[in-house]
Amino acid sequence: MRPVVRVEKLIFGGDGLARAPDGKVIFIPFVIPDELVRVKITNDLGDYYEAEVEEILEESPYRRHPKCPYYTVCGGCQFQHIEYSHQLELKTQILFDTFKHQKWEGEIPLEEAIPSPKEFGYRNRLRLHVEGEHLKLGFVKRRTHTVLKIKECLLADEKINSVLKALYQSQDWFKLAFYSKRIKLETSPEENLVTMIFWTSVSPHKEELERLTNIKELKCVFFWKKGRRPQGPFPSNATYGGRRIFKNIDDMLYFVQPGVFVQTNWDVNLLIMKKIREWNLDYSEVLDLHAGIGNFLFPLINNGKKFIGVDTDPRAIEDGIFSAEKQGINGRLDLRHMSAMEALYEAVKFGESYDLVLLDPPRGGCKELMRLLPDVARKYIVYISCDLPTFVRDAKILIQNGFTLERVCLFDMFPQTYHFETVGLFQKKA
Ligand SMILES: C[S@@+](CC[C@H](N)C(=O)[O-])C[C@H]1O[C@@H](n2cnc3c(N)ncnc32)[C@H](O)[C@@H]1O
Repeated sequence: MRPVVRVEKLIFGGDGLARAPDGKVIFIPFVIPDELVRVKITNDLGDYYEAEVEEILEESPYRRHPKCPYYTVCGGCQFQHIEYSHQLELKTQILFDTFKHQKWEGEIPLEEAIPSPKEFGYRNRLRLHVEGEHLKLGFVKRRTHTVLKIKECLLADEKINSVLKALYQSQDWFKLAFYSKRIKLETSPEENLVTMIFWTSVSPHKEELERLTNIKELKCVFFWKKGRRPQGPFPSNATYGGRRIFKNIDDMLYFVQPGVFVQTNWDVNLLIMKKIREWNLDYSEVLDLHAGIGNFLFPLINNGKKFIGVDTDPRAIEDGIFSAEKQGINGRLDLRHMSAMEALYEAVKFGESYDLVLLDPPRGGCKELMRLLPDVARKYIVYISCDLPTFVRDAKILIQNGFTLERVCLFDMFPQTYHFETVGLFQKKA
C-alpha cells in the first residue's frame, strides 16, 4: 500500500501522525506537520500502521537539509530535518498533546519553552558501542540491533569528536578494542579535556592505557570490569583523580567521577537552576530525592537551613561530598547513599517534613513515591523530568493528593531529538 497522506502532527517519539484511507493511524518518521507525503506501509500492527516516506509532494517551509551524514540511519536524532526554532514549537505542541492524551483536566500552566544555547555540539558525553573485529565505534542503527560505525557525532562537544577520530588512528586502542564492548567519552567545560571509560572483560596493561593519553585532548582513561568499580585513572596523577569539573550558577565547582550522571547539556542545566531560583520559593528545609552529585541542591543552599540529598549511586554521593568539601559547604548539606523510597519512609517514620522536595528520576518516573510524598512535602515539589509521559502520569497522582501544578517549563536539553526536559512546580493546597 502506498497512500498519499497529510501529516497532522508529531507525537512523543518524533514520528508524524497521519490517517490512512481506511481511517487507521499511520506513524511516519522524518516528516513535518502539514506536509503531503506518499508513504510505503512497512508494518500493519492491527490498530495502526508504520510507514516510511517515499516522496514528499508538499514540503514544509521548515524543512532543511540535515547536516549529519548518518541522519535517518542512526537511531539518535529525529528532528535534524526541521529548522531549530520550529523544533521548539513542535515540542511545545507535543507537550500539550501528551497532557491531553493522558486526560489531564484543567489548565496546563506552561510558563516558557526555553531553547538550548547550542543547537549542535552540546553533549558532554557520548556512549558508543565497540565492535573490535572491525574497529567499529558507533550507535545502534534505527529500528535494528546492529551497530552503525560513526566517525563523529554532531551533537557531541568538539573535543569528544577529536578523541573519537584519534581512536580510529590509535594502535593502542586497536588492541584494547578487542576486549571492549562499550566506551564512554566524557568532557567538561572547565578543563576542555576528555575522560575515556571503557567496559572490558580483561584487565589491560597500565602502559597500554597510559599510552592512549598521547591523544592530545584525552586527560585520562578508566576501565570497568563487570561488578567492580571503574579502575583508574591512567595515568594515576590525572587531576582530581580523573574527575570532570563543572561550574554551577554560583561558580561552585562539581567534581565528577567517570560514569557518574551529569546533565548532558550543561548550558541548559544552568538555565534550569536559574529558573528554579527565579521562582523565589519560600523554603528552609529541602529534600532532594534524586540528588546525584547535588546538582540542583547546591544552588539552593544560600537560603534555608536543612538540606538532605539522597541517591542510589554511591559514587554520585561520594562526588557530592567531595565537591561540598572543596567548596567548604560540607557542614550545610547531608548527602546520603539511599533510595528515594527509603528516605521517604524514614521521614514518615520520624514525622519529618520539608518545605521543598526535589524529584529528578530516571525515565521511568517515580510513581512509587507518590503515596508517601504528600506527607513529606509541606509546601512545594519541583519535579524535573526527562520523560514527559511519566511526568504527566505522576503529576496526576499529585493533583489527586492535594497539590496544584503551578508552573511548567520545557527546556530543550536535547536539540535535534524528540527528547526534552520538563520542569514542574507543584504547590500544596492551603
Ligand atoms: C536524572 S539523574 C539526576 C541526578 C541529579 N539530580 C542531577 O541533576 O545530576 C537521576 C538520578 O536518580 C538516581 N536514582 C535512580 N533510582 C533511584 C532511586 N530509587 N532512589 C534514589 N535515586 C535514584 C540515579 O542514580 C541518578 O543519579
